[in-house]
Amino acid sequence: MAQYSRVSGTVGLITLLNPPVNALSAAVRQGIVDMMDKALSDRKVKSVVICGHNGKFCGGADIREFSSPLTGPLLIPVIQGVESAAKPVVAAIEGVALGGGLELALGCHYRIAHSKARLGLPEVHLGLLPGAGGSQRLPRLIGVPAALDIITTGRHVTAAEALKLGLVDRVTDRNTVDEAVKFALSVADQSPQSRRISTFPCPHHPDLDAVFEGVMQRVRQRARGALAPVACVQAVAAATLPFAQGMERERELMATLFTSGQARAQQYHFFAQRAVGRWSMPSGARWDKTKPVAVHKAMVIGLGTMGRGISVALVQAGVSVVAMETNEKQLMDAKQAISSMLERGAKRRGVAPALDKIRYSSDMQPAADVDLVIEAVFEDMALKKKVFQQLSALCKPGTFLCSNTSGLDVDQLASETRTPELVVGMHFFAPAHVMKLLEVVYGSRSSPQAVATAMELGKQMGKVSVAVGNCRGFVGNRMLKPYLEQAFFLLEEGATPEFVDQVLEEFGFAMGVFRMSDLSGLDVGWRVRKADGLPDGHSARIRQGCRYSPLGDLLCEQGRFGQKTGRGWYQYDKPGGQVAKPDPWLQDFLEKFRTQHGLVARRIDHQEVLERCLYALMNEGFRILEDGIAAGPEDIDVIYVLGYSWPPHRGGPMFYAAMVGLKKVLERLEHYHQEHPDIPSLKPCNLLRKLVVSGSPPVQKWREFLQKPQSQL
Ligand code: 3HC
Ligand code: NAI
Repeated sequence: MAQYSRVSGTVGLITLLNPPVNALSAAVRQGIVDMMDKALSDRKVKSVVICGHNGKFCGGADIREFSSPLTGPLLIPVIQGVESAAKPVVAAIEGVALGGGLELALGCHYRIAHSKARLGLPEVHLGLLPGAGGSQRLPRLIGVPAALDIITTGRHVTAAEALKLGLVDRVTDRNTVDEAVKFALSVADQSPQSRRISTFPCPHHPDLDAVFEGVMQRVRQRARGALAPVACVQAVAAATLPFAQGMERERELMATLFTSGQARAQQYHFFAQRAVGRWSMPSGARWDKTKPVAVHKAMVIGLGTMGRGISVALVQAGVSVVAMETNEKQLMDAKQAISSMLERGAKRRGVAPALDKIRYSSDMQPAADVDLVIEAVFEDMALKKKVFQQLSALCKPGTFLCSNTSGLDVDQLASETRTPELVVGMHFFAPAHVMKLLEVVYGSRSSPQAVATAMELGKQMGKVSVAVGNCRGFVGNRMLKPYLEQAFFLLEEGATPEFVDQVLEEFGFAMGVFRMSDLSGLDVGWRVRKADGLPDGHSARIRQGCRYSPLGDLLCEQGRFGQKTGRGWYQYDKPGGQVAKPDPWLQDFLEKFRTQHGLVARRIDHQEVLERCLYALMNEGFRILEDGIAAGPEDIDVIYVLGYSWPPHRGGPMFYAAMVGLKKVLERLEHYHQEHPDIPSLKPCNLLRKLVVSGSPPVQKWREFLQKPQSQL
């Protein structure tokens, strides 16, 4: 809806009213049309201000409406109606002006923004383009290069940057609506004719072709198969045409995107990211019934790769940190690395680095005085247990004890303490100050308040926190295991690392499994596998009665740990090198391995690589749902998109399973399991069968088929 009032005698004030973000639903669009009519027909009104209720201008089109036939007036003519008004119209931008919200503001003749407002055209993240004239008006107003940047990245622009770009006319620290009203009074007598952006020519640029070519190349590379970023560039290119023709091109491109599976996937991801915040536990404890405790002071133990990033993210979230490390050299290196990360981060955000918020220690004593501890020492249960025992003896009552373990049993750690209810996993992803995902792992004795506190702290650190149950590898790493396993088996059967990686990268992963494994270090998994025991004596290819691939272990035995040693699944020009090249040594090694084990290499096609790797991963996802380790498919999908570079335009593994068709996934798993009965991860899980028997309901309905979640250990 929209409300109307007349203020300061001659200004018609239209307030968009659709909490929480004043999205442009059918009712709001109709409201704008009606209230504009009212303002324009009121002879006392000389100018108009459009603002949003409750300090938020507008979060854009109502995304929830996209899944059903559109009703009410379309946004394009609504905005055209505003722009063609004979009385000056001023947008009073507070909070956010995003997507259709910014497009509406671009239809206004003037824009006044609060200094804290954020503006942007984030449609690209929803698989769309700014389809209500944004791709045509923005380049006309601020030039093609700046518009391309904003539209293809979907990034939010601060009010200060918007002023610099000419996107807004004025920025204020005061009450924006009052300022806009004053401004509207000052321009009441001026004709809005020269302020209609649709009449502007696209600003001249000496070499537009080169600009488009360069941006298109970059965008295609980054898009990993997503259609929307490419269509965004094509739409902006049409802004060099007369406005009507450009709008027609925008409409055509938008029509293709709007009905695409990619747009559905990305919009699902948008809502999934928000849904995971509404967590629940097997005990019935829930997000809306549990109050988190405020964390003012935290301690991070172990300043290796993860501890450094976690410390930076905490400081940037305003938490005071004691960073602790026992190894003297590591401590020195960490100090330097953390300071420079904080400095770089502060520079990017245009603030002073909060170096005074962190202090360092080489002993545990400061743990006595913190609200929460995050342990990030080596992935070694005995070591972690010792740390938790020490913490339990040292910390004041009520201190939350968290572990960044990537998959060890949280209950075992909790049992080392006097306060198991205060123990949870906080599984960050590397680099921890950059990656948006946090798995919050509740053990069988974790209190709701401990979970709520970790979830809230994650949010404060700018993460999307997902609550998951306690099992080996939690959600993300547990699903990774069968995926990696299939990739190894495919090599044994005749594929090459290059081919497997190429197929997975074409699917949209940032990196194929072998390149990724070289980057993170083959020795990490090797150590865990060794701790689990070596394969059965009679065959290196059997472990606990099931097929096992020793390929990774054999490479490690050769000192091939990946990028860090300059050799892994690929070769690199030097240790630490990043450019992966196929390695003839590996081909030779694989051939010898096959001969030794009586394996005959066969031709493996694209489809088999995708199906075996991805369907095995999805199958584990169904098991995780069945076991109640994840509360719903959205949790798994958010974890995979934000933590494991699953392409957002494919929604996540569970969404993708539904897109492919559950029946097909089941049939193909059955087929592969028949061919490889010694690989249990290919055996279709019961939940998948149950869903297929129930007619393959959409992913949003799967929760109805799940039992109450429970911890598995
Ligand atoms: N439509 C429908 N619902 C929306 C919405 C939108 N545009 N924007 C936010 N919401 C909902 C969220 O789903 C959430 O509800 P839920 O918890 O029930 O799911 C609620 O509003 C609050 O949202 P957030 O939790 O995200 O609140 P924040 O304060 O953290 O963030 C925001 C606010 C920055 C506006 C963020 O919600 C956001 O980025 N929204 C989407 C903006 C966007 O992408 N706009 C473009 C829409 S497409 C478009 O305009 C097409 C046009 O070109 C034709
Ligand atoms: P790392 O090897 O880089 O760092 C571990 C640090 O802990 C070292 O600096 C070591 O000196 C220090 N340390 C060891 N014992 C200590 C003690 N008693 N007190 C204080 N410091 C001690 O390890 P990394 O990669 O940072 O991993 C840490 C934890 O995070 C592990 O549990 C790992 O599984 C987990 N993790 C790692 C990820 C990664 O990508 N590296 C991702 C997510 C989780």
